[in-house]
Amino acid sequence: MSFDPVAIRRDFPIFERKIRDGKRLVYLDSGATSQKPQVVIDAELDFYRLHNAAAHRGAHQLAEEATDIYEGAREAVARFIGAEVDEVVFTKGATESLNLVAYAMGNAPLGSRFHLEKGDVIVVTEMEHHANLIPWQQLAARTGATLKWFEVTPEGRLDLSSINSIIDEHVKVVALTHQSNVLGTIVPLTEIVNRAHSVGAVVVLDACQSVPHMKVDVKALDIDFLAFSGHKILGPTGVGIFWGKSELLAELPPFLTGGSMIESVTMESATWAPAPRKFEAGVPNMAQAAGLGAAIKYIESIGIDEIHRHEISLTGYLLEKLNEVPRLKVIGPMDTVDRGAAVSFTFGDIHPHDLGQYLDSQGIAVRTGHHCAWPLNRKMGVQSTTRASLYLYNTFEDCDDLIAGIHGAAKYFGA
Ligand code: ALA
Repeated sequence: MSFDPVAIRRDFPIFERKIRDGKRLVYLDSGATSQKPQVVIDAELDFYRLHNAAAHRGAHQLAEEATDIYEGAREAVARFIGAEVDEVVFTKGATESLNLVAYAMGNAPLGSRFHLEKGDVIVVTEMEHHANLIPWQQLAARTGATLKWFEVTPEGRLDLSSINSIIDEHVKVVALTHQSNVLGTIVPLTEIVNRAHSVGAVVVLDACQSVPHMKVDVKALDIDFLAFSGHKILGPTGVGIFWGKSELLAELPPFLTGGSMIESVTMESATWAPAPRKFEAGVPNMAQAAGLGAAIKYIESIGIDEIHRHEISLTGYLLEKLNEVPRLKVIGPMDTVDRGAAVSFTFGDIHPHDLGQYLDSQGIAVRTGHHCAWPLNRKMGVQSTTRASLYLYNTFEDCDDLIAGIHGAAKYFGA
């Protein structure tokens, strides 16, 4: 069956509602959060209605069912990203996943490959959103390590011309986004991973904007750690994924401590359970994990490659149409090569917040502002932008409505 976004929209109850006095919802803000299909809403609801109990605790049927649902969701995630099941850790979100790995490295004792001190280097890029920048700034401040970064070119690509001097033998960790949430740029990962590994550094990939939109296989990419959020991949809020190679998870100290993450406890001390439990202290977010598992199965039923192809063709179309609008400037690559479906732009003198408000009056939801990536905005010479971000349920009609909305705004503001 061919890819049919109109049929897909029928799986998402939110598209039945009207916006701003009866207008069709044109949702172009999936980079911030995706909409949810009924199967995801049902999975979360059914967990509470029929199976609610604390997974991995309790000797009763409900606890057994809750455990099976929770672990079933972990298996779905592992299959989706090509991981081993025990390498998949549920967190409350991608921000927690990234803080987890950065904070845990800061707790690593002398002699551990994760131990950082003065003289060691952490590498990031100018493309990072704050969730993959500030934890590393904080880790550098706590340990005395130095933070270095790859710069971004005026076209919105990573500048790798100094890769050998940026990633030298002092580097312990390279943490970078897979796809920029502002520019849409997909980074040249192979070159970076190869260089990082050649100096013994680990690679942490922020895959928030890639895992929902294209095939990400952790083994094929040969990365060491990965983070993404559930709510950007059709799942609920309050759940994210932290993945790590099993031998690295075995060595990484825990982040949060408490119930269920232990092997044994005395009044004086405790030892840790193996991963993933070592990183899942407390009663877990089972309903949210159930929703995420359902989201992944839903995506698998459509096909992540088909979703990616659809987004690429929509993005190409949108870029072409935006390029025809006078005074509109796309911030990021103008073609679909190594580029995803987040498209940010400025429009003459119209402030993005004003443009966003006008588009909203037409039923068109976009994000405006700095998109939690201040340094990148500064680098690109803009204070803020308007961002349209596309997903499997978007159509060419949505793109046309955005373009019509932009022309309407030009008239409205007399621009
Ligand atoms: N990082 C998310 C976005 O780009 C919140 O909107």
